[in-house]
Amino acid sequence: MKSVILFCLTAVVILITASCQSNLKGKAMVEKKLFGKLSDGSEINAYTLKNGNGMEIKIINYGATVVSLTAPDKNGKYADVVLGYDNLEGYVTDKSYLGAIVGRYGNRIGKGKFKLDGKEYNLSINDGENHLHGGTEGFNKKVWNVVKTEADETAGSASISLKYISKDGEEGYPGTVELTVNYTLTKDNELSINYSATTDKKTILNPTHHSYFNLSGDMTKTILDNELMIDANKVTPVVKGLITTGEFADVTNTPMDFRNAKKIGKEVDADYEQLKLAGGYDHNWVLNKHQEKIFKFASVYEPVSGRLMEVSTDQPGVQFYCGNFLDGSITGKNGVKYAKRTGLCLEAQLYPDSPNKPEWQSPVLEPGKVYSQTTIYKFSAK
Ligand code: BGC
Repeated sequence: MKSVILFCLTAVVILITASCQSNLKGKAMVEKKLFGKLSDGSEINAYTLKNGNGMEIKIINYGATVVSLTAPDKNGKYADVVLGYDNLEGYVTDKSYLGAIVGRYGNRIGKGKFKLDGKEYNLSINDGENHLHGGTEGFNKKVWNVVKTEADETAGSASISLKYISKDGEEGYPGTVELTVNYTLTKDNELSINYSATTDKKTILNPTHHSYFNLSGDMTKTILDNELMIDANKVTPVVKGLITTGEFADVTNTPMDFRNAKKIGKEVDADYEQLKLAGGYDHNWVLNKHQEKIFKFASVYEPVSGRLMEVSTDQPGVQFYCGNFLDGSITGKNGVKYAKRTGLCLEAQLYPDSPNKPEWQSPVLEPGKVYSQTTIYKFSAK
């Protein structure tokens, strides 16, 4: 009798534990934890978005930065697939924009100059003689205000909205811009990034997201065996200093042709002028479907883990950067030194240097108008 009771009790305990665990796994939530303190004492928090399937994305309110993102492999095993640092200090001293929102203007503006209504503006110069990713202290170095976190258990989604107010004159840009970035992790393992912004004076805006992905989850490996597809017939060629010429160049019969998926390493070191100028892929592709509201434009497949990332946007261009400037000098998460080409960025945006290319889609934002952008990174395995 005793042993029957004991057996029944054990069974009940096992059942309760299992149901608690499955509840835990099945629950979408946002968890907040202190990440670190800046030298002025201000606290930076980490917000972990969980969708209940096992995928987790951690975001800090410094640079609105994605510090980790787990994705499943073909055996359902989750691993962190973005480069980053173990602590706040890493992000404060970072010069490679790991995981951050960059702006006001993502990418380069030639000599940091542009004109609005005949008036010339001079932005801070931080990349040779040019302006890059918002200047000396871009949005990636700012403390953002967390305006909302939300978990929808029924939908299996979790989200965070962060806001940054960029003052008139910051880094040389006119107008006070209020930018809100919403990160939502959906039940379908998508990271959806929504931007919305307004200004009080005519200005320019072209923010983007700068995660470096390494789908192997092993950051000591390069991304050269990853198979990349970019749905683009044309690319915007550059001159020395990586400023666009203003032309569109056909990718046919060049190493820039990713219309059929191919390994990034296949031609990255080809004897091809555009690759030599940039030290590898670091160019903007002209996306074929950019007349559509939101469209899939790229996929990355890592053959060993089977991880697949598909990227969609409503933007006309994407900067594909294969981490050429990583040189082992950065010590990232778990003490790993990030060597050349151990991460890749797919940064949806307007064509680079658009403030000086009047024939291209304009980055001008006027008072009374709302800037918006949606870019989605979707993770699966096959
Ligand atoms: C640019 C690279 C630059 C890198 C900085 C990328 O978006 O295209 O040229 O070196 O950002 O981390």
